[in-house]
Amino acid sequence: MHDKITVPAIAARKGQGPRVTMVTAYDYTFACLLDRAGVDVLLVGDSLGMVVQGQASTIPVTMDEMAYHVRLVARARPRALVLGDLPFLSYQVSPSEALRNAGRLIKEGAEAVKLEGGLAQAATIEALVRAEIPVMGHVGLTPQAVHRMGGHRVQGRCEESRRRVLEDARAVAQAGAFAIVLEGVPLDLAREVTRELSIPTIGIGAGPFCDGQVLVMHDLLGLDAGERREPRFIRRYARFGAGVVRAVQRFGDDVRSGAFPNDAESYHAPGSELHVSGTNRRIETAAEMQDWADGQRAAGLKIGFVPTMGSLHEGHLELVRCARRQADRVVVSIFVNPIQFDREEDLLAYPRDLERDLALLRAEGVDAVYTPRAEGMYGDDFATGVEVDRLASGLCGAHRPGHFRGVTTVVSKLFHAVRPHVAIFGEKDFQQLAVVRRMARDLDFGVEVVGHPTVRESDGLARSSRNARLSAEGRRLAASIPAACDEVRMALAGGVRAADALAETFRAVLATQAPLARVEYAELVDPDSLDALARVEAPARLVVAVWLDGIRLIDNVLLDPADTTPTRLAPVERTTTSPRAGTTPVTMVPSPLHAARRG
Ligand code: PAJ
Repeated sequence: MHDKITVPAIAARKGQGPRVTMVTAYDYTFACLLDRAGVDVLLVGDSLGMVVQGQASTIPVTMDEMAYHVRLVARARPRALVLGDLPFLSYQVSPSEALRNAGRLIKEGAEAVKLEGGLAQAATIEALVRAEIPVMGHVGLTPQAVHRMGGHRVQGRCEESRRRVLEDARAVAQAGAFAIVLEGVPLDLAREVTRELSIPTIGIGAGPFCDGQVLVMHDLLGLDAGERREPRFIRRYARFGAGVVRAVQRFGDDVRSGAFPNDAESYHAPGSELHVSGTNRRIETAAEMQDWADGQRAAGLKIGFVPTMGSLHEGHLELVRCARRQADRVVVSIFVNPIQFDREEDLLAYPRDLERDLALLRAEGVDAVYTPRAEGMYGDDFATGVEVDRLASGLCGAHRPGHFRGVTTVVSKLFHAVRPHVAIFGEKDFQQLAVVRRMARDLDFGVEVVGHPTVRESDGLARSSRNARLSAEGRRLAASIPAACDEVRMALAGGVRAADALAETFRAVLATQAPLARVEYAELVDPDSLDALARVEAPARLVVAVWLDGIRLIDNVLLDPADTTPTRLAPVERTTTSPRAGTTPVTMVPSPLHAARRG
């Protein structure tokens, strides 16, 4: 597969395939890229007159120019065969002049040359072959004969022209060419030539019945400003021209607005205090967000996304850092989604501090912050909802009617606006993570949903925007939630397997440590289906919701029966025994998790 492609290797493809792929190349960088893509032949074509030099035809291209471009392409030392085009008037005058010019391209690094013409060039082809210069012929529409043909016209459409193309092709093969380009001829004629000749035919605008195909790189990649009329034989494999324009427009915008370069893109002298403060790109409409995302995608960049409701804390920022590790561009959305709140007072009391949030995201180097307005998200006639069955019906779903429908509906809208490749969600909201993951899979969003472990305060309490609403006493008591989770893990490590008993351990610890707390639910569930378990024999999840101080707090932990020494979420200073397991006295050692990052 990785052997150098040689002239005999191309010739040997005749009849046995695989079909030969040939693309034009004019410089080192693209030669490397095309070669990496596994192209068989890099043609340094005189088409450079048009696509590189901007001329109306290939006729003005000189030998010096061809020699120069052959040199650039040959420097890529490609696996592909390097084929140099002989330009107009470099071979027509005499076979000896052809030999000198072809020899020059070979000295520059070409491994074979191509010239246009059939019968009329047979003697020249013979002379080159005799001098050990492999030749690829070229018949049918021969662009250097543009004036004779009266334009770039399909050949071989009438009997007479068809006969001429056939004779030309035969003459080229007979003269010793190792392959031949058939350009701009009807597909049946190309099939006839391909069947008759014993050398490979490489078509362009010659239909599918050839031994190979060639395209001009700029046509294949759509590297134009979109103004040219496209001949029908071109198939576009990309529209990079438009992408180039957009990328450079963005560069211009960033330079003018001062967004480029930022602090990370600047050098700092030791001891210098000078830093660039930078700005966030804030986007407020779905259309603008999609436009931005399309631009990033067209440029081949990977988009990572963190949806939030703002009031950001260290938990959110960890998700942002996780997104940064997985993607080239990071988008964070801030939107307090009214349709996922089942109680209006909760929606009204939800903490909001946009300026602080934007400053935090600026410091994290977030590329775009999407802050849609409620009116823009849900017009008066908004009528669509996205719902995930079963997974969303238990646990929080059972206690907060409409909540998950609100979450999946807004996350759908956010995914459609941001068009991320990967989206990061916290395990803190374990059921939400499972529901969103299922939605993305069931509805073919093409978004990879990644879960990130819960970030906790030093006393083990899961970080949450709601924590700020607790009274000082409530906040102190809230630490009994992770502490109770710890006791369940210890009970499991101590051999308790019955889900009822484990859930009861949670309730019992909480009843002792925080009698005012009300447990809304404490369940042991399968981590994927969220189905309630009777016994914990495989890794499971303890999921809990607790009311404290009028605030609803949720948490969850992994319960792994194979883990005999579980790490604690909450630090413990005393020695105690697990209330239910009651077997092993557990020495409480603060775990490294307490040192989780602080905001
Ligand atoms: P919000 O509560 O702002 O949370 C945004 C994301 O941060 C969620 O994925 C959540 O799980 C994660 N997160 C919150 N606290 C965390 C912690 N302590 N550790 C790790 N991750 C944490 O969840 C929502 O917003 C909304 O429902 C939303 C998905 C944005 C839809 O409106």
